[in-house]
Amino acid sequence: MKLTGQDIINELQDRREQARLGGGAARIDRQHAAGKLTARERIDVLLDPGSFEETDMFVVHRTRDFGMDGNTIAGDGVVTGSGLIHGQLIYIFSQDFTVFGGSLSAAHASKIVKILKLAIQNGAPVIGLNDSGGARIQEGVDSLGGYADVFLQNVLASGVVPQISVIMGPCAGGAVYSPAMTDFTFMVRGSSYMFVTGPDVVKTVTSEEVTAEELGGADTHTQISSVADGAFDNDLVALAEIRRLIRFLPAHNAAPLPKLPADDDLARTIPALDSLVPEDANSPYDMKELIINVADHSDFFELQADFAKNILTGFIRLNGSPVGVVANQPMVLAGCLDIDSSRKAARFVRFCDAFNIPILTLVDVPGFMPGTAQEYGGIIKHGAKLLFAYAEATVPKVTLITRKAYGGAYDVMSSKHLRGDANYAWPTAEIAVMGAKGAVEILYRSELNDADKIKKRTADYENRFANPFIAAERGFIDDVIIPHNSRFRLIQAFSKLRGKRQQNPPKKFGNIPL
Ligand code: HXC
Repeated sequence: MKLTGQDIINELQDRREQARLGGGAARIDRQHAAGKLTARERIDVLLDPGSFEETDMFVVHRTRDFGMDGNTIAGDGVVTGSGLIHGQLIYIFSQDFTVFGGSLSAAHASKIVKILKLAIQNGAPVIGLNDSGGARIQEGVDSLGGYADVFLQNVLASGVVPQISVIMGPCAGGAVYSPAMTDFTFMVRGSSYMFVTGPDVVKTVTSEEVTAEELGGADTHTQISSVADGAFDNDLVALAEIRRLIRFLPAHNAAPLPKLPADDDLARTIPALDSLVPEDANSPYDMKELIINVADHSDFFELQADFAKNILTGFIRLNGSPVGVVANQPMVLAGCLDIDSSRKAARFVRFCDAFNIPILTLVDVPGFMPGTAQEYGGIIKHGAKLLFAYAEATVPKVTLITRKAYGGAYDVMSSKHLRGDANYAWPTAEIAVMGAKGAVEILYRSELNDADKIKKRTADYENRFANPFIAAERGFIDDVIIPHNSRFRLIQAFSKLRGKRQQNPPKKFGNIPL
């Protein structure tokens, strides 16, 4: 009998209710018992209240093998759609572990592909919440094809719209390559892991005994592999932090930057900065102090905080506008550039450049890290990544040298020579080929056994080069500024660069040393 009127609406409501239940109450309980929210709860927490519009709620798989005939659940293990974060349109997919373990079928993949295509077409960030047992085992190659379809869209979306992945459960096998190609990957401590091959296969192939957590947990990927940009204690914190991150990002590569009210005094002087750099040139200080002091409301969204700590990367706002910060950290390895820090910063610089986010570079770098580990590991190629990234970047680039800017690292760190737009130094800056001690040991090798002579030579070298004025005389430094005025000067510099237009020669793309 054909349904009419209210019955039709009731039927629709029933179908929706059924779909919203996913894999059913028992599996939802299991998800909660594991300390995890469900796919739908996560969307509710992430998006502005009432803003979620679901697509493809009734999609089911088309598998007939291995008992799957008739075994369908509406939505097929992924909840997809669009909504708002702080009023900004967002596309989202959230894998539902309660439905076939969130595993990816061809139908499940086609839902994600649809979302990615809409995000590209309509110019909005896309967020993927990953919680999946991987390829739908009953589907075989259909599932693998589905993954490849997703990968392709991730690549096409790269540089067009920001892509964010949050790993909130298993993410194993080839499935890891979708998050790996997005701009930012975050994990939840204790409940998420990522690996290409799991502990069992590792044991069979290499005889190593390792737990899933050790192999691919949040600590591993934030501290050792750098696969993840950050980790959070639970789902709620992770989702709140993604809401915070979105506020720093434009909707797409031609969109204006999101502005917040400029309600932190732009001319705020910061007396503490006048004594930030210690008198002893070899004593460390915390560069984060500078970042937090100049940023609007001290708000710094740090990325890769637990990896390559000798360089800091993240977003701040200056007078309401987002700025990407790259800063040497003298507290760790004296702020040297090495393989890991070069890679970390290069990727960040390229993200900022792709999305027109101005870059602030804070410099205190004694040079590149020496040693066989670095040379054998390819510091030449990895250091070149950062050099390349800065040189090709056409966004506004403002640089402030606080202390050391030695050797090749001086060139690399957004120097004037790489098209730095405004290059400032504090009076404590030392811009030279190397430190005075090293320089004297090379220039006056024959006098090394005469301590007095060497002391004088060192003092001469320091007097000549341990300051910003030689560079300023040549115009490599635009101005030597008083530390307590730094916030005002940086804001001024960026505001004058708002209309910057710069293009690289026409090309398909540059060949960054990967
Ligand atoms: C189909 C799956 C599944 C999968 C889990 N399930 N993984 N169904 N395909 N890949 C189902 C289970 O049958 C179960 O169904 C439910 O999801 C929950 O799984 P459990 O095992 O009960 O959960 P848990 O103990 O938490 O273990 C989670 C898990 C485990 C670690 C993810 O399920 C697991 O190892 N799954 C297989 C992982 C895997 O090998 N995937 C293929 C990787 S290769 P019921 O009905 O009982 O609730 C790959 C290639 C991609 O992904 C290549 C791309 C290029």
